[in-house]
Amino acid sequence: MKTTISEVSKFVGQEVTIGAWLANKRSSGKIAFLQLRDGTGFIQGVVVKEEVGEDIFQSAKSITQESSLFVTGIIREDERSPFGYELSVTSLEIIHTSVDYPITPKEHGTEFLMDNRHLWLRSKRQHAVMKIRNEIIRSTYEFFNDNGFVKVDPPILTGSAPEGTTELFNTKYFDEDAYLSQSGQLYMEAAAMALGKVFSFGPTFRAEKSKTRRHLIEFWMIEPEMAFYQHEDSLQVQEQYVSYIVQSVLKNCQLELKTLGRDTSKLENIKAPFPRISYDEAITFLHEKGFTDIKWGDDFGAPHETAIAESYDKPVFITNYPKAIKPFYMQPAPDRDDVVLCADMIAPEGYGEIIGGSERIHDFELMKQRLEEHNLTSDAYKWYLELRQYGSVPHPGFGLGLERTVAWISGVEHVRETIPFPRLLNRLYP
Ligand code: 4AD
Ligand code: MG
Repeated sequence: MKTTISEVSKFVGQEVTIGAWLANKRSSGKIAFLQLRDGTGFIQGVVVKEEVGEDIFQSAKSITQESSLFVTGIIREDERSPFGYELSVTSLEIIHTSVDYPITPKEHGTEFLMDNRHLWLRSKRQHAVMKIRNEIIRSTYEFFNDNGFVKVDPPILTGSAPEGTTELFNTKYFDEDAYLSQSGQLYMEAAAMALGKVFSFGPTFRAEKSKTRRHLIEFWMIEPEMAFYQHEDSLQVQEQYVSYIVQSVLKNCQLELKTLGRDTSKLENIKAPFPRISYDEAITFLHEKGFTDIKWGDDFGAPHETAIAESYDKPVFITNYPKAIKPFYMQPAPDRDDVVLCADMIAPEGYGEIIGGSERIHDFELMKQRLEEHNLTSDAYKWYLELRQYGSVPHPGFGLGLERTVAWISGVEHVRETIPFPRLLNRLYP
C-alpha cells in the first residue's frame, strides 16, 4: 500500500511504501536509523540487519543525505518519536542518489543558508515555518469567508502609489510608466463599494532601503475593506481576525510549534479584545520610560514600538497618529484635525507592527484637497476620487503583513525565514 507519512496512523501493523528523501541517518554494525521526510512529515525508518539481510542493510547504510527512495516497511507505534510512529523497514529502492549535499547536519552561517534557500527549505525547521504560514493563510480565508467577506484580487501592475511615492518599483508598461503594487488598498476601496465586505491576499512590493529583521522588499498582505463600517468596527474585526489565526495555529500546528521550540503559553492568551492606546498616550509613556529623543509628531521606530508592546501580553493598537506622518487617504478624527482615525497593531515580544489600518476619507472635497496636497493630481487617481462621487460611504480597511505575523506566531527571529524565497535589500538569488 502506497501512502504518505502524514497518513501512517491508519496503517499501524501493516506494510506500506512511502516515497521519501533521506534527511539524516545513523548506523552501527547491526542497525541503521534513517530519518525520512516526504513533505507531509518526518518519520524514522529502522533497518535491522538480521531482519532484512546483508544486501538491503548495506544499501541502507550507504544511502547519502537527500537521496530519494521508496521505502517499504511496517508501521509501528512509538512513544519516543515526536511523530508517534516508526517504520520497520523491510525493503528499499533508491530513486536518485544525491552527491555532496551542501547543507549538512552541522551549523551553517546565515548567508550560506540563504544562498542555498532552494535546499534549505527542506530542513525540519523551515518545513515547520512553511506549514505555519500555510495554516495562517488557510484560516485567513476561513475567517473572512465565514464572516461574509468576498475575496477580490487587486492588480499587481498599477499606476498609483498608495503608500508614498519614494518606495516604488517602476517598470515600463509599453509606452507608459507602471509600478509594482505597494498595497491593493485603493482598488479594494472600489471593490468594497461593489461587494460590501472584501479582502485581498497578494504580493506587495516596497523598494525600501531598510535592512532589518522586519523588512522584505516583496511581502504578502491581507487587505480587508468594509463599506458602512467605522474605525472602531474595523478594530474589532482586526482583533477577532488575529485571535482566530493564532488559535488556529495552536489547534492545527502543535508539532510545528514544538519543532520550533515556540513558547505556546504566550500564544494561548491571544484572544480579543486587545488593548488600545492613543498616539498621544504612547508619547507620554515613552517619555516616562526615558525615551527623551522622541517628540509629538515623530514616527515610532522599532525600539519605541517594542517598549510599548512590552507593557502588554497581547497585541496592542496604537491609535490616532498625527496626520502629517500618515498617508493622504486617512479620515481626520472628528474632534481634531491634527490626528487621523487610524491604528497600527503592534505584536508582542518585539515583532513590531503587523497591521496598519484606518478609516478612509469619504468626502469628495476633502479627498480632492488631500490628493492635491500630496501632488497626486495625475489621471492615475481620477477613478479613486470618483468613488467619492457616487454613493460615497464611510469605510475603513487594514493590511496585515503576512511574514511579520508568521515570524511572531512561529517565534522566528527574522522575516527572511517566513517566506519561501525572500527578496531582501541585497538578495534576488535564488
Ligand atoms: O502599514 P502599511 O504600509 O499599510 C498599508 O499598506 C495600507 N494601505 C494597508 C491597508 O490599509 N489596506 O503596511 C501594512 C502592513 C504592515 O503593518 C506590516 O505588517 C507589513 O504590511 N509591511 C511589511 N512587511 C514586510 N516588509 C515590509 N517592507 C513591510 N512594509 C509593510
Ligand atoms: Mg504601517
